[in-house]
Amino acid sequence: MPDVNAAWAALDTAAAAARGRRIAGLFDAEPDRLARLTLDAAGLELDLSKHPWSLSDVDVMLDLARASGIEAARERLFAGEVVNASEGRPALHMALRAPDGADYRAEGQPVSRDVEAVRGAMREFAEAVRSGGKRGCTGKPFRAIVHIGIGGSDLGPRLIWEALKPLDPQIELRFAANVDPAELAQALTGLDPAETMVVTVSKTFTTLETLTNAEAARAWLRSSLGTASDSHLVAVSAAPERAQAFGVPADQVFGFWDWVGGRYSIWSAVGLSCAVALGYDVFAELHAGAAAMDDHFRTAPLDRNAPVLLALAHVFNRNGLGRPIRAVVPYAQRLRLFAAFLQQLEMESNGKRVTADGAPVAHPTAASVFGDAGTNGQHAFFQLLHQGTDVVPIDILAVRQGSEGDPAAQRKLLANAVAQAEALLVGRSETDVRAELAGRPDADTLAPQRTFPGDRPSSFLLLDRLDPRRMGALIALYEHKTFVEGVLWGINSFDQWGVELGKTLATRVLAELEGGPRAPHDPSTAALIARLKF
Ligand code: F6P
Repeated sequence: MPDVNAAWAALDTAAAAARGRRIAGLFDAEPDRLARLTLDAAGLELDLSKHPWSLSDVDVMLDLARASGIEAARERLFAGEVVNASEGRPALHMALRAPDGADYRAEGQPVSRDVEAVRGAMREFAEAVRSGGKRGCTGKPFRAIVHIGIGGSDLGPRLIWEALKPLDPQIELRFAANVDPAELAQALTGLDPAETMVVTVSKTFTTLETLTNAEAARAWLRSSLGTASDSHLVAVSAAPERAQAFGVPADQVFGFWDWVGGRYSIWSAVGLSCAVALGYDVFAELHAGAAAMDDHFRTAPLDRNAPVLLALAHVFNRNGLGRPIRAVVPYAQRLRLFAAFLQQLEMESNGKRVTADGAPVAHPTAASVFGDAGTNGQHAFFQLLHQGTDVVPIDILAVRQGSEGDPAAQRKLLANAVAQAEALLVGRSETDVRAELAGRPDADTLAPQRTFPGDRPSSFLLLDRLDPRRMGALIALYEHKTFVEGVLWGINSFDQWGVELGKTLATRVLAELEGGPRAPHDPSTAALIARLKF
């Protein structure tokens, strides 16, 4: 086992060799490549064979993982130790989705019974709302939920709803995250206050955007139903007393714990809106899928471990080959929000420039992530992926059986997913292009433009169906992948100090926009404030 510095040096050496060869050639040189680099984890099939690493490079990366202490770090995570040192907390989202009877502990204190109690309350609430046992203040059953929250209190529920919502839902779920009043206005449009529940989700219950929208939604309810409509207010928070002080009835405040990070919180009562609108059994299946991925992550050998290998493939590109951007393209319209979800998960978790000890990081950290649903992305940013000057690795997701519609269209979708990965890999040589253009006077100028360099890496993640179980496993896969990367980079993946300064300055700017005294600013900022006063 090399020490960690030697392991990083071995990655540099491996990557230098990788620059001099093509990925496609590795399939000939390594007959067992496909078998070694495809794996099945908790119902997901992952193919990492189209990355630029050779099988011996994979071993180099596995050594790096071991030398970085991944196994011990994983134990500390699952044991509920304080892995989020700067905030003095464990990160124990796995406890939220564990089966009944589990025994997770946060800093030695048992938490699983508390988790089960909240899950029980959520189930009871969801079933009461769906059966009409629980109704609005005029006696009408609830037909809509407006979910108010932002960041981790929004992106997970929004993703899940888009992925799993029925075509004609019994209860419509809408979202408002942005403090831009346009979003809440759109969310409320067409809804009957008498049939609408407002679920405000905020871990801290101090977030400016969320409280602004919650106040506006409460005012919207009260303007047609009076204060009796406060019974339509529901809240989810790790600070339940603040939610009650806001006016949410105590028995409609669902709690969670400070050991649940915002971007890892979909498994907690943060998912309440989904549990109500989709039915609690769906939510329980999400838990089961994520728990299966937890088991896999915890027990599979590192060389067959999907979160570990996915992280190592990404780190090979990021650190070995210096690729700072990654695309994520689900060939499933219902997963179109996946890139947005991953942006917070990966960039808020691992967009760090110092280690958990406060020292500058020794290696570049999180790649920037962007993406959209395929095939739409093909008609937008894929030009750059195929022929741009930067190599952008891509994660392609595909779902074998579509959830609705024409199977022939589904086949076209899948053909595109596979073909894009192939095109990125093999490209099209200038020789081939010239053969096609033979005899044309403009062949010399056209041929380079029609040439595809290829050798552009991709991961391919296949789901048999987009069901709640696989959805849970998918999210947990990327959660653990993000954790593994954080361990390799020596950073704390569970804090987010980088969001604080902007919040503080926004409060100061807002005071000025509201007519308060002028604070010192750079000339550009001062000019903007002057122009925006109204
Ligand atoms: O943007 C910072 C952040 O703290 C996220 O980490 C979090 O998910 C989001 O704000 C919302 O916070 P809260 O749930 O406390 O309203």
